[in-house]
Amino acid sequence: MYKILLAQDLVPNIHLFKIAAPAIAEKAQPGQFVVIRIDEIGERIPLTIADWDRDEGSVTIVFMEVGTTTHKLALLQTGDFIADFIGPLGLPTHIEKFGTVVCVAGGFAVATIMPIARAMRQKGNKVISIMGARNKGLIFWEDELRSVSDQLIVTTDDGSYARKGLVTEPLKELLEGEEKVDRVIAIGPSIMMKFCAKTTEPFGVKTIVSLNPIMVDGTGMCGCCRVSVGGVTKFACVDGPDFDGHQVDWELLFARQRIYLDEEKRSFEQWQRSIHR
Ligand code: FAD
Ligand code: FES
Ligand code: MG
Repeated sequence: MYKILLAQDLVPNIHLFKIAAPAIAEKAQPGQFVVIRIDEIGERIPLTIADWDRDEGSVTIVFMEVGTTTHKLALLQTGDFIADFIGPLGLPTHIEKFGTVVCVAGGFAVATIMPIARAMRQKGNKVISIMGARNKGLIFWEDELRSVSDQLIVTTDDGSYARKGLVTEPLKELLEGEEKVDRVIAIGPSIMMKFCAKTTEPFGVKTIVSLNPIMVDGTGMCGCCRVSVGGVTKFACVDGPDFDGHQVDWELLFARQRIYLDEEKRSFEQWQRSIHR
């Protein structure tokens, strides 16, 4: 059992848990994830490692409520326990001195990109971060991301805070600007990652995306997380989750992410009925 040392609401539907998991904290690297199971009848879901503290032996995850498991998870509080917390899984993000790196994060992925931006800066890169949210109420960790970036651009879809528009707009301006951009890392909803990759493609700037197909075992055995990159089948849990965004078959990813929509909807309705009984 893994103890929740801290449960915090970052915004109403995005939560942070700091979990006691010394063995994972010891080995965690930017871009890796854990697979968790709330209890012995729960399903397994992957969540990115947003931070870790090797001295404290803790790992931080940040998750958004979308369906049954993430809603159930959000009900847990400081001092509660999670049955399974497995990791670190996946290949770490490739960190190197590239020059100028633009880190683009959408929604909850601000937390996901934090360790990557920090590591890129520690390697001597100039880090320009762009974070986008649908509206002001969904903005979190702005100061934290600024603290690991040389420059931070914030956008909201509805213009309720900072710059109005999508993250791809400042990204395009940076690519068109005087300064050479050497690498882009884009993490967030799949559609956002696809359009970031489409934006950078004409400029020939390598763009790494962190793919989020459905995962079950997280160790390369079930085949559930199958994606196609450059025409080659890859398992995102062991070959990724980072891939070259210009090579990803986005339509296949979208289709496979939707495979269980009916079951997920039914599961959520059933659970809602059970808690309101
Ligand atoms: P459901 O209603 O069951 O599903 C909603 C949608 O989430 C589905 O349509 C499907 O596209 C996706 N999904 C469902 N089950 C899984 C599954 N087992 N694996 C992956 N996707 C699934 N979310 C966060 O909020 N924070 C993170 O840091 C984060 N990191 C991730 C890292 C990786 C490597 C991957 C693959 C996904 C990550 N996700 C993260 C997405 C998260 O796993 C899903 O939101 C979660 O599984 C949804 O479960 P649910 O039961 O609440 O929703
Ligand atoms: Fe099973 Fe990747 S999650 S092979
Ligand atoms: Mg689910």
